[in-house]
Amino acid sequence: MRVRTNGFDAFYESSGSGPSLVLIHGFPLDHTIWSPQVETLSKTFRVITPDLRGHGLSEATEGVYSMDLLARDVNALLDHLGVGNVVVGGLSMGGYVALSFFRQFGQRVHGLILVDTRAEADSAEAKVRREEQARNVLRNGMKELASQMIGKMFTEATGRREPALVERVRSMMELMSPVGVAAALRGMAERQDSSGLLGSVRVPTLIVVGEADSLTPVADSERLAVGIGGSELVVVPGAAHLTTLEKPREVTGAIRGFLGRIPR
Ligand code: MLT
Repeated sequence: MRVRTNGFDAFYESSGSGPSLVLIHGFPLDHTIWSPQVETLSKTFRVITPDLRGHGLSEATEGVYSMDLLARDVNALLDHLGVGNVVVGGLSMGGYVALSFFRQFGQRVHGLILVDTRAEADSAEAKVRREEQARNVLRNGMKELASQMIGKMFTEATGRREPALVERVRSMMELMSPVGVAAALRGMAERQDSSGLLGSVRVPTLIVVGEADSLTPVADSERLAVGIGGSELVVVPGAAHLTTLEKPREVTGAIRGFLGRIPR
């Protein structure tokens, strides 16, 4: 579905009915990274999966996409859909957006799901690398960045077993708008450290991470789990960064179990 909200043409899918769950994809990806979870969870929940500004089928506006802006985009979409309270989930950059959403709109959040992500801001070196990548995609397109990133999404074993999955995600990345990707890179580079926010998270929280994630390693999730009192941490065996697609049954099962335990 398409809608004009917060100054851009947004694409999203909404499946099922019941209590609302919004699942936010990572970088440079789109809403389909949640497809396996949507299939199961939409039997009991209304699952909303947006394409963030500049990603997938959503419009790529010029500028810098701060995590706060992307969270405001999600909030505007929920307003448009008439959603009140919501469980917010995000993978990697989607997790940065989920934490910003909690900071800005915490009153409507009654659960958090943080997948393969972290609370900390970028290091000085990471900021420099992001700017180089942004300039490179604007000059030369997405191929090189997609090649750099694809090897980190899945374990080698998955790459051997499911080459079609790897190629599907590579083309997803290659099809991203360079303008949107550069804007997201610059937005991630300037994001604030959310570590100080964790102690104020009083809603039930599930943290999920692939045991072989090199982009947002297990230690990052362990710090999230220590920071958010009462949170649950699930480490997914045999998975790297893109756990929702690499180990769909395990991730869906963890989310379904979590949602079943939290008050509606
Ligand atoms: C993502 O998967 O969203 C990105 O790798 C996150 C990042 O680059 O920090």
